[in-house]
Amino acid sequence: MRIRTFIALVFGGYALLEGGVAAWLDHAGVLPTVTGVYLLATLAMPVYLRMALARKWPRPLWLMPLFFSHFFLSAVFLLSVGALEGAGGVLTLFGKGQWAAEMFSPVRQSEVVGGMTVLLFGLVFLNRFRGPVVHRRTVVVPGLGRDLSGFRILQVSDVHVGMFESSGTLLSLRRRIESVPHDLLVFTGDMIDRRFPEVDRFLSFFGSLSAPDGVYCVLGNHEHWIDGPAVQKRLEENGWGVLENRSVPLRRGDRTLFLVGISDPASEREDRTGGPDPDKAFQNVRPEPGDMVVVLAHNPVLWDRLRRFPATLTLSGHTHGGQIGFPGGGWSLATLFYDFDRGMFRREEDGHLQWLLVNVGTGYFGVPVRLGVSSAVELVTLAASV
Ligand SMILES: [Fe+2]
Repeated sequence: MRIRTFIALVFGGYALLEGGVAAWLDHAGVLPTVTGVYLLATLAMPVYLRMALARKWPRPLWLMPLFFSHFFLSAVFLLSVGALEGAGGVLTLFGKGQWAAEMFSPVRQSEVVGGMTVLLFGLVFLNRFRGPVVHRRTVVVPGLGRDLSGFRILQVSDVHVGMFESSGTLLSLRRRIESVPHDLLVFTGDMIDRRFPEVDRFLSFFGSLSAPDGVYCVLGNHEHWIDGPAVQKRLEENGWGVLENRSVPLRRGDRTLFLVGISDPASEREDRTGGPDPDKAFQNVRPEPGDMVVVLAHNPVLWDRLRRFPATLTLSGHTHGGQIGFPGGGWSLATLFYDFDRGMFRREEDGHLQWLLVNVGTGYFGVPVRLGVSSAVELVTLAASV
């Protein structure tokens, strides 16, 4: 998806939401003048956002009115009203007209909308200020060499340094990374959001991080939207390994962990740097018994193209876990769009196990809201089967 398509979708959704709210105001008997003022404010919001960003106004001055007060509040509002109207319709069907009238009443609807808004805003702010959680997982690999057993990979994904990420949020992510002991640190794409200068801001927070076995990354679709080769160059100048269709062997005693990176499909569409090429990426990967292969692929859709490769563990991101979903790993918005939405997946190819881990990331896409899907980093410990 191109950035312009994305912006059109966001503002299209915004217009639909606001249209729904205006329709409800009319239904509730609110004066047309008030509804008109509300709609004018809606139309003025993109202009306001443009002005605020151009003049570098403090984040709360535009983030709060646009995304929380207007955008998110409208969605909460319509969902609540929709649920009440739906319940009222069902009650009418069962001949409970009096109860249904309660559901349709604007006063009752206002109470429910108010309650839901307070509850949901509380949960959203809690997630924002608590910082990312650490998901700790152990992957038991049959035949893994003893030298690699206990190897710890810390995966960070989709930081999206940009308009939604405050310095406080980024600092808390950095502290979280530093607080978790690991051997290898990897970033699986979408480190920045929409403008090239964000690379320097990203590096000012994370550029000095180190790990005993190094810091590596792959680019995500957002880097390719901006300028993949330029971002890669900047990250390499910082000393990071950027694995675009290439691999690096990491030695541990007598064993080797092959770290392989696959380019994102966006590299083909956006900056024509070739697209995903697993043949090229795996050309120097020849694992011997006891060795391990870990693949970095921003988009989990690439897992399907790795079936015939020795891709024992693939680390992905991209989906953000939908940002909104049921806590505990069930349904999320990502379930609507992706076969591999979040968490761990496993399959067997020619008698070999392959795992995919889809990291829900730490940043935001579209709206700065996470509900039921907390920001997270993944700590994967490799273990030999006994
Ligand atoms: Fe992302």
